[in-house]
Amino acid sequence: MANVASPRVLNIADLRRMAKRRLPRVVFDYIDGGADAEVTLGENCRVYDGITFRPQHAVATPTCDLSTTVLGTPVQIPFLLAPIGSSRMFWPRGEEVAAREAGKAGTIYTLSTLSGCRLEDVKNATSGPAWYQLYLVGGLDAARAAIDRARAAGFSALAITIDTPVSGLRERDFRNGTKQLLQRGPGMLRYLPQVLSRPRWLVDFLGDGGLMSFPNIVIPGQGPHPYADITAALEQTTVTWKDFEWIRKAWGGPVLAKGVLTGDDGRRAVDAGAAGVIVSNHGARQLDCVSPTLRALPEVVDAVNGRAEVLLDGGIRRGSDVAKALCLGAKAVLVGRAYAYGLGAAGGPGVARSIEILRTDLVRTMKLLGCPSVRNLDRSYVDVPYRWERERVAPAGRN
Ligand code: FNR
Repeated sequence: MANVASPRVLNIADLRRMAKRRLPRVVFDYIDGGADAEVTLGENCRVYDGITFRPQHAVATPTCDLSTTVLGTPVQIPFLLAPIGSSRMFWPRGEEVAAREAGKAGTIYTLSTLSGCRLEDVKNATSGPAWYQLYLVGGLDAARAAIDRARAAGFSALAITIDTPVSGLRERDFRNGTKQLLQRGPGMLRYLPQVLSRPRWLVDFLGDGGLMSFPNIVIPGQGPHPYADITAALEQTTVTWKDFEWIRKAWGGPVLAKGVLTGDDGRRAVDAGAAGVIVSNHGARQLDCVSPTLRALPEVVDAVNGRAEVLLDGGIRRGSDVAKALCLGAKAVLVGRAYAYGLGAAGGPGVARSIEILRTDLVRTMKLLGCPSVRNLDRSYVDVPYRWERERVAPAGRN
């Protein structure tokens, strides 16, 4: 197994390279790729470069407190693990493995509806809190059953993803024959060499059962949703603000809207009863050429105006990125690919290493900023590009 503990593994880009070596192209690109021309994919990361720090020097910060609360839940670090579908494809029992590492690090794991592991097993795997991410895929009865199971299993919040009325076009998936491989018909033959070129991954994957269905999408009278048909099924189930009402009632706990990119949608989410909004463009996998999330954050923070907690995900690869998002008003952030690369590279130790990289980066950044606690991070620690300030006049509302 790749040695992720090596001192040469310095940053998330190193874990990405290791994941690329272990995983077949079709799996690596599923993690790494974005929609269409991948404009937003690049921008999500690059936008952090435009924010400059304003450190307060000659300030001693012997202890550096990374703990905070998210929807009232204490966390030891201000970053959570984002929902990543099909993690079981990256490593045997991938969702359980990632959840366990989140718990050990004192943070929240968010389980995707499109999980290859049973939600009860994932919750049992972590010593920490966990959230459930909801798609309505499979229909309303299947969603209701998942909501009941998630509540009974002890998930503490529901993140409703609102940016997926259809699947984005991930051109890499198309070219790698993802669909043909999942359908396992004769059409898959020309795409097989990429899978056979990673025999160690293949042995792991087949040894784990080969991921045939989604055990948390159980269609009444039919059983778990088969793996291959999921794109078409997603397109039949758009989540609307109206759905928030019944979902909130059925759930009976806090809900978050995941996929907010404008002040208008931030206000709608709060009006629909969301306790939190996640500024997210789905890791640039849905609509290309939307704002990078950090750029959208200030508008959403202003619009929500303290009525809900604002979180952010997208493009976070360094602890300094976490700090910048917190300075611009996020209560905490979620990381997606940063831990998925670790999971694909080396399973649990890989996830632990990615969390450790972000954590030590963040501690160092805080000390260099002269800031004793992540709860103290605010606009005074950063300069934003002049253009951002000029455009801060809120855009006209859309009805
Ligand atoms: C995702 N994301 C995602 N979001 C969601 O709501 N449900 C899901 O099933 C998935 N699946 C998924 C798979 C993969 C491989 C990736 C990379 C992402 C989006 C995810 O939760 C998060 O919004 C982004 O990953 C954040 O961007 P970064 O951190 O990956 O840049």
